[in-house]
Amino acid sequence: MPRDDLPGVVVTGAAGGIGAAVAREAGARGHRVLALVHRPTSEPALDSSAVHVSVADVTREDVSEAVVRGLAAAGITRVGVLVNAAGVIRHGTTVASTSAQGVTESLDVHCTGVLRVTRACLPALLRAPRPVVLNLTSRHGSLSLAASGGVPGVPVSYAYRIAKAAQNMLTVCLHQELSPRVRILAVHPGRVATAIAPADADRSPGVTAGHLLDLAENAPSEWSGRFLEPPATFLEW
Ligand SMILES: NC(=O)c1ccc[n+]([C@@H]2O[C@H](COP(=O)([O-])OP(=O)(O)OC[C@H]3O[C@@H](n4cnc5c(N)ncnc54)[C@H](OP(=O)(O)O)[C@@H]3O)[C@@H](O)[C@H]2O)c1
Repeated sequence: MPRDDLPGVVVTGAAGGIGAAVAREAGARGHRVLALVHRPTSEPALDSSAVHVSVADVTREDVSEAVVRGLAAAGITRVGVLVNAAGVIRHGTTVASTSAQGVTESLDVHCTGVLRVTRACLPALLRAPRPVVLNLTSRHGSLSLAASGGVPGVPVSYAYRIAKAAQNMLTVCLHQELSPRVRILAVHPGRVATAIAPADADRSPGVTAGHLLDLAENAPSEWSGRFLEPPATFLEW
C-alpha cells in the first residue's frame, strides 16, 4: 500500500526497460507512482495498486494536460522524484545515412519532451520537501568524450548523441533556474539490458531502478547540475 507521508514519483517511458523498473521499485518503496507510457500497455511490472498508468506521448504539446490528469488520478499532489526515462534510437552512424527527421524526432523525445514533462510537474515538484529531477542521459551525450574520440569501437550514433547533448544543456539550464530548491541531475544509468541496450549491457533494469531511487533520496544539493553514473562516478560534460 502506498504511504501518504511519502511524495509521489513520476516516470516517463514506463512501458518497459528502466522506466517500468523504476515504477515498480518506487511502488515497492511505498510511493504513489504515475507511470507515463507512450501507448497503452499490459506491462506486468505496472500491475500494482501503487502505480497509476497514464498514456502520455512526450512529443505532444498537450502532454502537460495528460500529466496533470494523471497526477490527479494517481492521487499525487507532491512530486518528490521525476525520472525522465523516455527514449528512442534513430539509426545512422554516418552523416550520409543520418536523416534530419530522425535527429528532429530524437530531440523531441530526449530534450523537448523532458522540457514539457518537467514543466507540467513543476508545481507539484515545488510542493515536495526535497524534490529531484533525474534526466536519463548517456555517456554518448558527452561533448568531452566525443571530442576525445568517443568510446572505442562504438560508432557515431548522430541522432542519439545530438539529442542527449541537447538534453544535457537542458539539465544545466534547469539547474541554474531551479537549484537548490529542486535538484536536477543528468544520469547515465550504465549499460542496461533493455530494448535499446548496447551489446555489452551488464546491468539489469531492476538493479538500475534501485540505483536511481537511492540517488534521488541521497544526492546532496551540490550534485545538482552534475552529470554522473550512480552511485557516484562523475562524468565530464
Ligand atoms: N539501456 C541503456 O543501457 C541506456 C544507457 C544510457 C542511457 N539510457 C537512457 O535511459 C532511458 C531509458 O531507456 P531504456 O534502456 O529503458 O529503453 P527502452 O526500454 O526502449 O525504454 C524507452 C521507453 O521510452 C518510450 N518512448 C519512446 N518514445 C516516447 C514518446 N514519444 N513518449 C513517451 N514515451 C516514449 C518507449 O515506449 P515505446 O517503446 O512504446 O515507444 C519505451 O517504453 C532512455 O532515455 C535511454 O536513452 C539507456
